[in-house]
Amino acid sequence: MDLNGKLNLTEKAIKSRNIISALAGYFRQQSKLVTDRALFVNELASERESNPEADVNIAPNGKPYRTYNKTEMLKELGLQRGSRQLDNLVKRLGLDPANSPYGGQWTVNLLERNQIKEAYGLLEPFERAGGQKCAIFGISNLKGGSGKTTLSTLLATGLAIESRRKFRIAVIDLDPQGTATRILLPNVEVGNGNADYVSVGDLLVEERLEIDYSDDEQYKEVVRSAFLETNADNLKVLPANIADTDFELQSKHKAINDRSYASFKPLQRLITQIEDDFDLIIIDTPPALNEICIAAHFVSTHLFIPLRASENDRDSTGKYLGGFEMLYDLMLAYGHQGYEEIKLVPTAIDRRSSSELEVEQSLRLGLMSYVTESIAASEAIKNTNKDLNTIFDISPSCYSGKNSTCESAQSSSLVFIRSIEVILSNYWKLGVHI
Ligand SMILES: Nc1ncnc2c1ncn2[C@@H]1O[C@H](COP(=O)(O)OP(=O)(O)O)[C@@H](O)[C@H]1O
Ligand SMILES: [Mg+2]
Repeated sequence: MDLNGKLNLTEKAIKSRNIISALAGYFRQQSKLVTDRALFVNELASERESNPEADVNIAPNGKPYRTYNKTEMLKELGLQRGSRQLDNLVKRLGLDPANSPYGGQWTVNLLERNQIKEAYGLLEPFERAGGQKCAIFGISNLKGGSGKTTLSTLLATGLAIESRRKFRIAVIDLDPQGTATRILLPNVEVGNGNADYVSVGDLLVEERLEIDYSDDEQYKEVVRSAFLETNADNLKVLPANIADTDFELQSKHKAINDRSYASFKPLQRLITQIEDDFDLIIIDTPPALNEICIAAHFVSTHLFIPLRASENDRDSTGKYLGGFEMLYDLMLAYGHQGYEEIKLVPTAIDRRSSSELEVEQSLRLGLMSYVTESIAASEAIKNTNKDLNTIFDISPSCYSGKNSTCESAQSSSLVFIRSIEVILSNYWKLGVHI
């Protein structure tokens, strides 16, 4: 845009504008480099020309499916090295990992690993009975950087890949910055307001799509197809887009014109369309108690609040809870039915820092059962993030750093994931219940 001719700009203002453009350009370029790397775009494009089967292991989100070598697959089944059982299993399933098209040595991908685990009785299908409702996890804390997106994506991929039951999981990204979307769907252009996919904002802000939002059948169809497939066949994502901030404006307008309007209603209607398609919906939220975040608080059955173990984080989480206390009275007036669970999740705990361990201990003592297992600070979590992955997206043998760093991050995060499986089992009354 040529503002220069229209406004009487000072030299300093023009310079500032140029610096801002240059900075924005730099960050755009960096993001593109990371996305391209995560998608193997360049490699794939050149390979595809010579070998049409080159993308045989590429999932619908453009990422490769996680692969397991023989040692890793034996570990998955709890079998000893040298055991013949795995060889017999793959033969019976008609798989041929020794000649796999996507690995040098013996390799299976996630889909085949699931087949093998199912055949071995270590992965059960899950079908909800009538009384078992879809669980909706709201991940919230006003503080930016408290670990919401890391928790959302870790939970989503961890539960999708590591649960003993095959839950159907969805992530709804309510943060228009779209960090969760970028990690789970790197092939979607979150920062492009005109990108050609349906974002959560498109479904909530009437008029953004050329559909009749009041036509229930048409709306349901559009909502269902907006959930995009990932590199785990039981995990889908409803992506965010930078333009989703429009929802705040729409809510203000509607509230003025329609006294019965409340900002949670559009999100509640959206979720009604898909609650039979999924067992668990995980909602990542923005760092602001705005209309969309309030809506997330309203529709959730479980609330998870990540917090880091520092005095600043404890203080700001206290302020967030103070705001939520007032908000909750309003939600009660709108008929909120109460949460199944409200849990604080100590996040990015540095086990070598005595002050962090002390804060974590005091949280545990003071809040008792309202605190979950912690998520440790981990180089592997940061490092896999750099490639737009979570630690569950890759096997230790494919990790770019030391295998053992990835392995220990996975096993410590698994303790957390298992504790969340217990919360879900409780909700659906699986296992022993009196
Ligand atoms: N357990 C962890 N170990 C290492 N780094 C972490 C961990 N949890 C979060 N981080 C890092 O902290 C930063 C902020 O986390 P993020 O999940 O994006 O927070 P939020 O969504 O609340 O803004 C990210 O760079 C992320 O990689
Ligand atoms: Mg975030």
